Amino acid sequence: MAHATTGQETRIEGNIPADIKVKNNQRFLFISNDQRTMTHGIHKYPAKFFPELPRWIIERYTVEGDLVLDPFMGSGTANLEAALLGRDSIGVDVDPFSRFLASVKTKPLSAKELVKAHKALIASMESFDIDKVINGIPDFPYRDNWFKPYVLKELSYIKASIDTLDSSKHIKNFFLICFSSVIRAVSEADNNCTRTVIRKKLNKHVKENQAITLFQKRAKFCVEGMLDYIAAGASGKVQIPSKADARNLIGVKDNTVDLAVTSPPYMNAVDYPRTHQLELYWLGLAEGSLSELKKSHVGTEVVKAEKYKELHLTKSESANEVIKRIYETDPRRAFIASNYIDDMMQNMREVHRVLKDGKRYVIVVGNNLVRGEQFETWRYLQEVAPSLGYEVELCFVSGIINHFIKVPRAERIDDDHVLVLKKCG
Ligand SMILES: C[S@@+](CC[C@H](N)C(=O)[O-])C[C@H]1O[C@@H](n2cnc3c(N)ncnc32)[C@H](O)[C@@H]1O
Repeated sequence: MAHATTGQETRIEGNIPADIKVKNNQRFLFISNDQRTMTHGIHKYPAKFFPELPRWIIERYTVEGDLVLDPFMGSGTANLEAALLGRDSIGVDVDPFSRFLASVKTKPLSAKELVKAHKALIASMESFDIDKVINGIPDFPYRDNWFKPYVLKELSYIKASIDTLDSSKHIKNFFLICFSSVIRAVSEADNNCTRTVIRKKLNKHVKENQAITLFQKRAKFCVEGMLDYIAAGASGKVQIPSKADARNLIGVKDNTVDLAVTSPPYMNAVDYPRTHQLELYWLGLAEGSLSELKKSHVGTEVVKAEKYKELHLTKSESANEVIKRIYETDPRRAFIASNYIDDMMQNMREVHRVLKDGKRYVIVVGNNLVRGEQFETWRYLQEVAPSLGYEVELCFVSGIINHFIKVPRAERIDDDHVLVLKKCG
């Protein structure tokens, strides 16, 4: 761990000391070393935590045996860190791909069974013969635009090899995530964009056999990560309820949680179902239209025109100033923004319900531009927090390093704000 303060910025590389002094509005630049360690690197996920951040927050605000909640779990970074630190945790996400990925990532497997299944898959990949693949290719919207015919056959072969392994469901699910991690790379879509889009100017050319060789590489990498995770002996248990929503934490009892830590979706930045649409279809987690799934997301862009005929304001005065300006040029975006604040307030009410008294809700959130207006989510959440029963204990800035997000230049997210709220009464 290296640690230095220059001018206005404190730079920390690696683990963040649990007891480090943090001042209000202090700016940190964190340099992460662990984004690919253990199972953290088994799949891309937009706007992932870098592991050192939730690790530090969990160490700072909980003790072994405590219960941690991430209501917008994503890929389960906080849950994995909680498990490694001996804290049980609950991870909530409306997205089935997130739940599948996080459950694989946090579930320690039997090393012996894993290695045996991996060997069987290596043998299966070595005997791949494209002419023998005749069925098993799933049908989904625009399938033949997204994939070359030979890629469809290669992917179907990999999936069938996993499905027919003589192994437990957990082992198969693990390799399905390895499989999923190659799908975007061998599709016609841009590999580095959060949206699944084909960019002609990229001139992407996926070669024959590329899916097979990439899967072999990814499986090796993921197995090594899982073996490290198994060796670490994580003792915390992870629960991932399938029906809960960050705004309605079904199944989480009142006053039971010792710490909630999360990074909610950025307003207007990532359409998660669209990001993972190919993976959702291949894994059989969705079929046909994704619009119902999109509607369940905080910050959804699927809104009816009648909703934004009139200006809709929120309980945050500073958000309202911005929303009024957005409304002048784009009433729909203005409604999406106000709806986002309402949803986040509903999430904060629910987290307040399940937190024990005096415990924290730590929200890590970025700013972004909406129709040229700075939308400072952290400021609005900080403003409404006292009316929801929280004391604002601390707010500081964390520089983002190594970000996967690629959004249009002017709308790029810069820093994250870390908001530490304490439940009071
Ligand atoms: C920024 S990501 C979280 C990333 C996570 N911290 C990680 O390390 O992978 C935000 C997540 O919020 C989820 N989400 C959006 N609306 C939600 C809702 N209503 N309830 C629960 N999760 C939701 C999205 O599916 C996405 O996975």
